Amino acid sequence: MQLRGTDHGSQSNKFQKHQDPDAHADSLSLALCSILSVTLKGLRVKMVSAAHYDVMRLRLRIPATSDPLVRRADAGRVLTALPRQKLGFWPTRLHRLDRLSEELSLDLWIKRDDESGFALGGNKVRKLEFLLAEALRVGSDLVITTGGSQSNHARLTAAAARKLGLDCHLVLDRGRHPHSGNLLLDRLFGAVVELIDDPDPEVAAARMEEVAACREAEGHRPFVIPRGGSIREGAVGYASMIVELAAQLDEVDFSPEFLYVATGSAGTHSGIMAGRAMLKLPVTVQGVSVSRPRELQEVKVSQLSNHILDWLDIESRVATDDVLVDDRFVGGGYGVPTEEVWEAIRLVARLEGIVLDPVYTGKAMAGLIGHARERRLECGASVIFLHTGGSPALFGYALEAEANV
Ligand SMILES: Cc1ncc(COP(=O)(O)O)c(C=O)c1O
Repeated sequence: MQLRGTDHGSQSNKFQKHQDPDAHADSLSLALCSILSVTLKGLRVKMVSAAHYDVMRLRLRIPATSDPLVRRADAGRVLTALPRQKLGFWPTRLHRLDRLSEELSLDLWIKRDDESGFALGGNKVRKLEFLLAEALRVGSDLVITTGGSQSNHARLTAAAARKLGLDCHLVLDRGRHPHSGNLLLDRLFGAVVELIDDPDPEVAAARMEEVAACREAEGHRPFVIPRGGSIREGAVGYASMIVELAAQLDEVDFSPEFLYVATGSAGTHSGIMAGRAMLKLPVTVQGVSVSRPRELQEVKVSQLSNHILDWLDIESRVATDDVLVDDRFVGGGYGVPTEEVWEAIRLVARLEGIVLDPVYTGKAMAGLIGHARERRLECGASVIFLHTGGSPALFGYALEAEANV
């Protein structure tokens, strides 16, 4: 069995269409939908997920209230009703960065999703809790996903699959860092690692299809997760992080003006924007792109945010203008660290004893530091940096890292 859904590329959109609750469950009876199977490119795809989630959404609607506590409770109810397989330890810590605050003349805090408590942590744990609950629910025994050879998503998918008793097959682009770091951990977690020499996501997606078809013919039930787990079923994990964060902010009596986050396949940023819209949280979310140009990333984030909100039947909208992305720190492209990135990694390590990575959090922190230095963030501005993990990649970049730290 395969369940797929993604906003990556036309072929994947075809699968999305077959999962969309609005396109199917509204017009078919839930019972019928739950047993309906169709043949797509020769593969059997059972449409159980749409029906299941639609049952919940009929029962749970967030009323239009401006009371933040009521909104939070309602959002919490909607999100906790989704199938979720616990992997991490929540809430992750929220604490102030005293020395970095002083260095940058900010009131700077950090949300430690690098400490999400599973297989060296990181943002993908929140996504995988929802994605793999679905894999289990539909009876899969094999998870297939893709990314670069230093993909944190691949490492965490491999670990989570094993923890839940599933096999894992990774289709990874070899790239320039095919040793150590996440790749070593993928193998440690017993994943089948297939390295390909093509960075084109469509090529990897097509290869995942082939693997899925082949393994299905052998009697397995593959569950394909697109790059980064950045579909609504995964990204919703970050809407739920916002509910967690709002409660923590109340506890410490802190109202940040800004939240900084690395934005790549867009699921994390989109989940945050959806959660912010659900709660009407008055924080400006600043994405720092790790690869894509600003305009494209802003559209991508707004689309996926609205996709999550539609799916949960929440009326709020995320306009493209609400999405802020700075792409000036991308440098030479995805996975290519700049001098500012190495400086950010050094500074945070030496002032705070915290490890960032050269692909995501190093770039995001370079953006935050850049904004502080150009005083786009005013003196004393209150900011949260979301640490999304990724430190194993530092070891995949050992030679460059040693020359730069
Ligand atoms: C450590 C880390 N931070 C940030 C991101 C970006 O998250 P997203 O792909 O959801 O935009 C990723 C994605 O792989 C990641 O591994």
